[in-house]
Amino acid sequence: MKSKLLKNSVIVALCCGLLAGCGVTAPNQEETGETVQIEVGTDDTTAVSTDEVAEVPEEEPVAPEVYLKDVFAEHGMKVGTCLTPQMISSEGGKERIKNHFTSITCENAMKPDYIFDKTASVAAGELIVEFNKDMITMLDWAVANDIAVRGHTLVWYSQTPSWIFYEDFNTGKNLVSKDVMMKRMESMIKQVFEKLEASGYTDVIYAYDVVNEAWMENGNVRQDNNLWYQTMGEDFMYYAFYYADKYAPETIDLYYNDYNEQYKADTLVRFVDTLKDESGRYLIDGVGLQGHLYTNDDLDTYFKAIDKIAATGLKVQITELDVSLGSWQSVKPADENNLKKQGRFYYDLINGIFERVDNGTLNSDALTFWGYCDSMSWRRNANPLLFDSLYRPKYAFYGAAQVKEFAGY
Ligand code: GLA
Repeated sequence: MKSKLLKNSVIVALCCGLLAGCGVTAPNQEETGETVQIEVGTDDTTAVSTDEVAEVPEEEPVAPEVYLKDVFAEHGMKVGTCLTPQMISSEGGKERIKNHFTSITCENAMKPDYIFDKTASVAAGELIVEFNKDMITMLDWAVANDIAVRGHTLVWYSQTPSWIFYEDFNTGKNLVSKDVMMKRMESMIKQVFEKLEASGYTDVIYAYDVVNEAWMENGNVRQDNNLWYQTMGEDFMYYAFYYADKYAPETIDLYYNDYNEQYKADTLVRFVDTLKDESGRYLIDGVGLQGHLYTNDDLDTYFKAIDKIAATGLKVQITELDVSLGSWQSVKPADENNLKKQGRFYYDLINGIFERVDNGTLNSDALTFWGYCDSMSWRRNANPLLFDSLYRPKYAFYGAAQVKEFAGY
């Protein structure tokens, strides 16, 4: 393919150069054999031999127009981006997302920090969930444009207001008992799903991260700064799924979501086995692998982890994919070599996902990128995404889109 594109673009470049200012109509970019017909004006026709153009300096090959959503649809998958209201504040922004993505995850607006009304909770003496303007803007847009939504997230040690764990919602008092916290957790989860239903959002939501980042790489439950653990003990995870299973509609898949997944696979396999009701039915539908990776990461190790988790039979999604340049100890600059390496990494990663989905060893209905353009990324210093800050596709984009010739190979 590369040589074909090269040859054709050389021909076009040559003709345009030769016939500059003559109102050239570029030929259809199909290889036609020995000669190519170029129409000039309405009636002049010039024949150029492809042999004669061989020595002309090479022009950049032209990349094909490709949309991620079409590429993923071929494997029965949605493809998503995280979203902020700013990303859909302009027509250009909306178009870019609609062109490429079929799913969104609110980057922040559905996190626990953003879904409670403290004043109302204190007044009522119980937790009151209130959706914010940003969340409503994004979910309304998703509904209007038929874009699917991943809910993110309910129970998490981080980005969660600490007052919800204290007596009278007052951080100057004691943490509440396990019983009280269980009631608060149930009430929070119940209200979230009831409000989603009442607001007309349940139809677009297909997955929800019920618990986020609860396990450590050493196989222990995260305890530090984890007020869910400190009030409820290890059971907090089981109850989160128990209540989510009780109140979420059947159509929403319930996920456990975590990072450094390549080091946590055994722990996660053991953990999901505990998330069953009395009859042995899973309370969980899927495992979310955040996919905050580095170009120096070892893909074989990564796929071994995916395969172990996939063998549970649960769904698996990569939920926050970005691939930073270098390693976490040493971020590398965005030079040609590193960007090409990133393109190849994206190509190989997504190729391996598609292979597994196609041969039935991985049950995955979506993959989500944590944004699409480097300048908007939480890791912008490591240039981890598919487009540069001027929205130009990087090797990474063509890697993700499986256009190998343009992916840095
Ligand atoms: C974690 C969370 C995400 C987000 C990222 C950073 O992965 O799950 O919601 O906060 O960190 O953007």
